[in-house]
This record gives sequence, C-alpha cells and structure tokens, in this order.
Amino acid sequence: MSNEARRLRVGMIGVGGVGRLHLEAYRRSAAVEVTALCDADPERVADAAAACGAAAYTGHRDMLMSESLDIVCILTPPASRLGIVADVAAAGRAILVEKPMATTRADAEEMRRLCAAAGVPLSYGASYRHLPALKHARGLIAAGAIGDVTLLREDFVGGRGPSSRMALPPWHYPEGGIGGSGMGLVDHGVHLIDAFAWLTGSPVTWASGRGNVSGAPLETEYAILGLANGATGHLLYEDGTWPTQLPAEGQFSWGASWDVDGYHPGGAWQAHPGSIHVHGTRGALRIFHYAHALYLSDAEGTRQITLEGDPAPDHFRAQIDAFACEVRNGLAPTSNADAGIAALAVLEAIYASGARNIRVEPQS
Ligand SMILES: NC(=O)c1ccc[n+]([C@@H]2O[C@H](COP(=O)([O-])OP(=O)(O)OC[C@H]3O[C@@H](n4cnc5c(N)ncnc54)[C@H](O)[C@@H]3O)[C@@H](O)[C@H]2O)c1
Repeated sequence: MSNEARRLRVGMIGVGGVGRLHLEAYRRSAAVEVTALCDADPERVADAAAACGAAAYTGHRDMLMSESLDIVCILTPPASRLGIVADVAAAGRAILVEKPMATTRADAEEMRRLCAAAGVPLSYGASYRHLPALKHARGLIAAGAIGDVTLLREDFVGGRGPSSRMALPPWHYPEGGIGGSGMGLVDHGVHLIDAFAWLTGSPVTWASGRGNVSGAPLETEYAILGLANGATGHLLYEDGTWPTQLPAEGQFSWGASWDVDGYHPGGAWQAHPGSIHVHGTRGALRIFHYAHALYLSDAEGTRQITLEGDPAPDHFRAQIDAFACEVRNGLAPTSNADAGIAALAVLEAIYASGARNIRVEPQS
C-alpha cells in the first residue's frame, strides 16, 4: 500500500461518554483507523478495545511507547489534559484535544507552547464547526442571505426543578475554578463562543455575565458578548427549572444530541432540541445544530433549507478527517490552539465581569 493511501493511525486517550462517540464516528472514516485506546478505567477500555480490535492501555505513556501513532486524540476531562499534552508532544505525535481546551487560559497557552516547541500540530476540537446545519448557515451568512448579522443567541433552560441541577465533578472542573453543568456556560457555552465568531468571521471583543464556580451552589448562568462587527451574542443557561417549550415546537432530531435532560441518541422526536438563532438586517436563521435542520426567514417568508452531510455524531468523523488531511499534507490546523485559547479568554472575561458584580439600580 502506498504511503498516500495509508490510513493515519489514531490513538485515543479517554473512552468515556464522548470518546465512545468519537470511536463510533471514526469507524466511517476513510482517512484514519483507531489502533489504540487508553483509559484509566481498565474495564471500560478493555470493552471498547474488544469492540473495535484496537490495543488497550490504562496509561497513556505505555500507549505512546508501544504504538506507532500518527494522531493522538485527548478526550479526557479538561482538568487532566496539560500533563497528557506534554507527554504526547514529547513523543512527537499530532494532537487533537476536546473542548474546553483546559480549565484555565494559562494551561491552554502552555499546551500551545509545548506543541510549538516540539513541532507538533495541535488541533482544538471545535466540533460544532463540522455540524452540517452550522456549516450551511455559515455559507448563507457569508453569501449575504440575512444581511449584516446583528444578534446571535442560544439558551438552554429546562430540567426537572432545582434537584435536577447537575454539576460536573471536580475531576472535570477543579473546585474553586470555572465549572457548572454539562449544558452550562463553560462546558457547553464554550462551543457557542467559538461558533458565534466562526459563523460571522468576527471575534468576540468584550464580554460580561456570570458563570458558576465549581463546588459552589449553582445558579442561572448568562453572558452578553460583543463581536468586532458590532453584533451582540447572548447565552443563557439554567438546568434547574422546568421547560416552557410546547411539544409542537419540537423537532425530529436526526442527530445525536445533548440537552438539559442529558444525551439523546438521535432518530427520535425531541420536545426541546438545541438551536441557535442568528438575526441579520435582511433575515434570520434558526439552526437546529444537532436535530439537523435549518430555517431561513426573510421578507419572502420562512423556509427549510436542505442540508448535505450526516448529522451528529458524524461531525466527529468530519473533524478527524479534516485534521488527518492537514497532518498528512503538513498544513497548520484550521481549528487550532488559538481558537481554544480565545474561547477560554472569553470565559475568563465573563467570570471576571461576574466577580466585579456591577449592578446598577434604576433611579426613580
Ligand atoms: N464535542 C462535544 O460535543 C463534547 C460532548 C461531550 C463531552 N465533550 C468533552 O469531552 C471531554 C470528556 O467528556 P466525557 O463526557 O467523555 O467525560 P467522561 O467522564 O464520560 O469520560 C472521561 C474518560 O476519561 C478517562 N480518564 C480521565 N483521566 C484520564 C487519564 N489521565 N488517562 C486516561 N483516561 C482518563 C475516564 O476514566 C473516563 O473514561 C470533556 O472535556 C467534555 O467537555 C465534548
């Protein structure tokens, strides 16, 4: 087999919830093959490896020493990543790292420095960029279909009352640092912070709001973002109340998805699927990013836009294929460490704004 035709060998570190979805999606890739898996949980990694014929490891250093890998995907919780990135970079392997890149901007910057010093490409898993509904929406915005973008917004509000609030554990987000629920500002909003800038080609230049601190009582999280083009971004997250959406406002979800009720495998009706609203001077888009549906509204009315490509979790296949192509051709990653660091910088700005707690009472 010629080198050109060879599929790149991937090792995965972390085969928990998202790792198993990456694994499922990579099976459909013509660009990569998963040859090794690593997870600190021996049973979990043995099961996953047996199902796909990969070698199993419980320590990433053993995997790096024993396997000849082209790409290592780091899919462990964010707090665990810096040390792993250091070892993988020292071993000279290309790296794809899940979101958020780290729990602090300083750690993410150190990852970028280590990889640059080792001459290793580091790709940030901005997976929303590979969802067909978002990709198509970006093309429509660039073509001027909704005019100038003025407002982007997403919220996840629902749950089963205050007892349904679910904080991610300290091994994901160490106590006292940024944190919150899986569908909260940090763990989920980090996708939107990147997506708003990517959809508009306009970085976030200021931010305000408040986010939950890991280990502290959970409250409603929110952010207002200012984009360089003058557009406003709005994020709102609360998983400890009850949903107000009516069943008729739902969508058939073609893709796998996450919402305040947890993970949904797709292929079923969803009463309140996630969606992103993008408003412009001539029209608006409603992007059901996981349900795999896109609507355009303007002076002509509202219509559904046909999408190409497969829904989630296939976006993880598209993501690794894009990175494999860059690695194979010696190109710098398109979704790079700068994007991961920029998203963390925005999160840190939101937390700094919340810590100052500036609230102005209306004068009567
Ligand atoms: N892109 C997306 O849409 C998406 C979706 C879900 C989760 N994620 C991200 O993926 C990451 C993992 O989330 P998850 O839900 O899979 O978590 P998880 O807790 O389900 O799985 C994490 C796995 O990593 C393993 N692990 C932890 N430390 C390790 C180490 N040092 N060496 C080897 N294995 C180790 C654990 O044993 C576990 O199996 C998080 O950063 C999360 O934000 C991304």
